Amino acid sequence: MSTHADTVLHRRPVLGSTMAYRAAGEPGTPVALFLHGNPTSSYIWRNILPLVAPVAHCIAPDLIGFGQSERPDIAYRFADHVRYIDALIVELELSSAYLVAQDWGTSLAFHLAARRPDFVRGLAFMEFIRPMATWDEFHQVPAARETFRKFRTEGEGERMVLEGNAFIERVLPGSIVRTLSEQEMDAYRAPFPTPESRRPILALPRELPIIGEPTDVHEMLEVAHAALKIADYPKLLFVGEPGALVAPAFAEQFAASLRHCTVVHLGPGRHYLQEDHPDAIGRSIAGWIAGIEAVNTRSVDRAA
Ligand code: BEZ
Repeated sequence: MSTHADTVLHRRPVLGSTMAYRAAGEPGTPVALFLHGNPTSSYIWRNILPLVAPVAHCIAPDLIGFGQSERPDIAYRFADHVRYIDALIVELELSSAYLVAQDWGTSLAFHLAARRPDFVRGLAFMEFIRPMATWDEFHQVPAARETFRKFRTEGEGERMVLEGNAFIERVLPGSIVRTLSEQEMDAYRAPFPTPESRRPILALPRELPIIGEPTDVHEMLEVAHAALKIADYPKLLFVGEPGALVAPAFAEQFAASLRHCTVVHLGPGRHYLQEDHPDAIGRSIAGWIAGIEAVNTRSVDRAA
């Protein structure tokens, strides 16, 4: 077990491998499950967890193949991540949670919530993934769309992501407004020292459901988004200016299409909003959870 600030890193056996997760806060309080995206890890939540810990038992896994979780010999498709997170939830005996998610973490959260709406106490999300009918819907910046097209192209993706480490060295810092320190960049580099270790990173751009492909991911996320539209649990949507996948105007329109969804405008931000706005995100989530729990406690008191 090792510690980073107020968080503690744990490991658990999952489906024959080991998954790592950061934890903060008191067991016995409502769980907040933090789901990261590509190519990050629970490290991206490091400055947010201590702010949420006073109101929730925070659990932030490293997805399989990412951070300090192991790299079994699997395809690292979206469905693989679903299996591993499902198994970790069983291993940790979680019966309900606030889901906090960004990027591919949002796909996992939407898919989990569609299958188990009663598990979800609330959903806080940002820079989310949805089935996209055109490439223009994927990213606001044409050069980024071109980069991801190349990542999805056999041979070119391998050269850029596996050999050139382009996702860590260019996409990550290019999608954050501030400049990460060398120490922070090294923390993101550390899990991926070799081309082979970067296969989980390369797999995910090829899973983005764009123009119906890949069909299985497209179908899973169509179903998950249909369930999200009618879900009653509270929702909090964070948005940056200009954002990357989600622009402020689109966030407002999307939130208006959901039930009980509040939008928080963070100011300047691209894709990895946690790196530009940890304080605003952490404090907003803590206040949001405290408010929901206060109302829930009052209704339990009234029923007693
Ligand atoms: C993605 O993995 O979906 C992504 C990463 C960086 C910028 C935009 C999208």
